[in-house]
Amino acid sequence: MSDQQNPQPEKEGVYLRQIRSFVKREGRLTKGQARAIEANWPSMGLSVDNGMLDFSQVFGRQAPVVLEIGFGMGKSLVEMAAAEPDKDFIGIEVHRPGIGACLADAEAAGLKNLRVFEHDAVEVLAQCIPDASLARMQLYFPDPWHKARHHKRRIVQPEFAQKVRQKLAIGGVWHMATDWENYAEHMLEVMSQAKGYNNQSVSQDYVPRPDFRPLTKFEQRGHRLGHGVWDLMFERIA
Ligand SMILES: C[S@@+](CC[C@H](N)C(=O)[O-])C[C@H]1O[C@@H](n2cnc3c(N)ncnc32)[C@H](O)[C@@H]1O
Repeated sequence: MSDQQNPQPEKEGVYLRQIRSFVKREGRLTKGQARAIEANWPSMGLSVDNGMLDFSQVFGRQAPVVLEIGFGMGKSLVEMAAAEPDKDFIGIEVHRPGIGACLADAEAAGLKNLRVFEHDAVEVLAQCIPDASLARMQLYFPDPWHKARHHKRRIVQPEFAQKVRQKLAIGGVWHMATDWENYAEHMLEVMSQAKGYNNQSVSQDYVPRPDFRPLTKFEQRGHRLGHGVWDLMFERIA
């Protein structure tokens, strides 16, 4: 990654471009994904251009809302939305084939409680999610950015932890999981120092995988490679 893609401040505090947690891959859509987007975007797609959401208008009811960042192909998100019909789910992903795959599965499952954004989650949070509105935030297997010089691209950072806290309701939980030990340690360090959160782990580090989180594709791959998996759950207390 060159410094052109990771610009330094032009003058103090002013960045030409924000450091992003992803590199947009030009994946090709399968025919099925393209069809799923065309057929389901009108009912399930959300756009940042429409600004701040009113959840009761979006879902036509009042229910706890769960937000997932970087759902990949959406398999586990669809499974979770099907398993918890009393909650409403919003997924955010920048990878278009993932959007298509998720919408195809959601359509097949007949889901009414799922909506998706195709956009950078940092901007969606700021522009579309009301403060203190989320029952749960999910971040599963975020890009680990292995090299030390890329660690600044990791989405879990002190500033981001506060942006998420602002959107969680009091008592709302941020659940994250990773199969990269160094990222797990980084998450734990950031979150342990973040104000306004309580670690739900009795040992003040990691929690067992909760039943509501299915195994994801990345996790299964991690298992095959002999990696461990670390789950963290932090509750907003202030
Ligand atoms: C390693 S994949 C994991 C996917 C999925 N959660 C799973 O466990 O299979 C990380 C995903 O996060 C997405 N992503 C990274 N940064 C993002 C951002 N700022 N906004 C939305 N999606 C993002 C990437 O496009 C990628 O699909």
